[in-house]
Amino acid sequence: MDFDPKKYIEKSVEEIRKLIRLEDSEKVLAACSGGVDSTVAAVLVSKALGRPIKAVYIDDGLRRKGEGSYVVKVLRNLGLDAFIYDAKKEVLQALKGLKDAEEKRKAFREAFYTVLGNIIKEMDAKYLVQGTIAADVVETVGGIKTQHNVLEQLGIDTAKYGFKVVEPIKDLYKPQVRMVARELGLPKDISERKAFPGPGFAIRIVGEVTWEKLEILREVTEIVEEETKDIEAFQSFAVLLDLKATGIKDGKRSYGYIVVLRVVESTDAIEAKFVEIPFERLRRISKRIIAEVPQISRVLYDVTDKPPATIEFE
Ligand code: XMP
Repeated sequence: MDFDPKKYIEKSVEEIRKLIRLEDSEKVLAACSGGVDSTVAAVLVSKALGRPIKAVYIDDGLRRKGEGSYVVKVLRNLGLDAFIYDAKKEVLQALKGLKDAEEKRKAFREAFYTVLGNIIKEMDAKYLVQGTIAADVVETVGGIKTQHNVLEQLGIDTAKYGFKVVEPIKDLYKPQVRMVARELGLPKDISERKAFPGPGFAIRIVGEVTWEKLEILREVTEIVEEETKDIEAFQSFAVLLDLKATGIKDGKRSYGYIVVLRVVESTDAIEAKFVEIPFERLRRISKRIIAEVPQISRVLYDVTDKPPATIEFE
């Protein structure tokens, strides 16, 4: 591959300096999820301006257990002025009653950017830095699905939210973002971190998102991530279906949710293959989930590649 991360960083820093004046560095907010994309974007802007910028982790309730405090710690260690903003109420309210995947994506996008717009207004800021990458744009503009972070490319004027979007890595794909992350000296935890979608569990819960389902999926996710961490994969996660099935617990009939395990190999997320996990491992994961998460009655494994499926379920 002839991509040179060092040169890319130099070019990107120059471009950011043309876009944001040094006097305006107080007016910059980076939206950071803890993923490699948004972290690289924030660090590039901070490097270009030569000073720490503010970075917000929006706690929308749609992420893993303990994610907010972990992400803020990592961002602070990278010299960013990071904080958590609690938007659980707004986001859950926006998703309430919605079952359709695209409606959920659009409602999440609207709530997310309204919250960000409010923070930006409070800060009297002007620029929003985000880690949009090429795959996000290609799939949204191509009509595969609406990525929450693709706005201007769809003709959505961000002036309505009160800020200008800065997307320093929007021409890169994941492998190049990881190369830039390594070159920037980001910790391995971040540079090699598995992708996690912007709308989080909202697109891993099929159908309506409720707090009860979110709590269940958080528990299952913890088990799945722990049990698959040694398996080479682009992503490995759980999806909660909108269906229940009969089971037996303590010798009695139970009726619980169905979860699907999804473990895929990919380089750029545009195509993916399901990983042939040994049955023995699948049985172990299934047993743990059923034993530790009482609301679950069945565990399925997804054996569909992308295409024809997508990686996420919604
Ligand atoms: P799909 O499901 O389209 O996912 O095959 C491709 C890659 O993108 C992630 N993904 C998203 N990331 N906002 C994001 O930031 C989104 O709306 C979104 N939808 C999917 C997914 O996890 C996979 O890595």
